Amino acid sequence: MIQETLKTFKPEQQNLLQILHALQDQHPQNYLTEQALEETARYLKLTKSSVFGVARYYSMFSTTPRGRYIIRICASPVCELLKVNTVIAHLEQILAIKTGETSSDGLFTLELSECLGQCQEAPSMMINDKVYNNLDANRIKTIINEYKQKNHD
Ligand code: FES
Repeated sequence: MIQETLKTFKPEQQNLLQILHALQDQHPQNYLTEQALEETARYLKLTKSSVFGVARYYSMFSTTPRGRYIIRICASPVCELLKVNTVIAHLEQILAIKTGETSSDGLFTLELSECLGQCQEAPSMMINDKVYNNLDANRIKTIINEYKQKNHD
């Protein structure tokens, strides 16, 4: 599977970030395994330590297992002003985790993010690639329930 993904890219070093994104996205636990990083290094003829370094440097990559859904909640000034902390507390309560952790059912990982570019409709968050705005306690509950429902179907 890793090799198949690598072969969809030319073995050029400038493709490193795109490759890491693709490998992370294809893993059900949304992270870069040691094997994926090693095979990427070999494919691009880079040292293992430089590929590991890039994976650890960018907050969008994870080298430890995460949930199927990554919730990135904006903690930048505008969202903060609009009481995003209440929203975060609510999410932590619903998911029974702290920020940075993964729920016990393996579905959700909660992370903080920089501005998502949605300030006019803050507070905002992303779940994987989807953006959610104008968050409040009720909306959070509905959204999380929708994702849980998807996994029961
Ligand atoms: S500050 Fe939160 S989306 Fe911009």
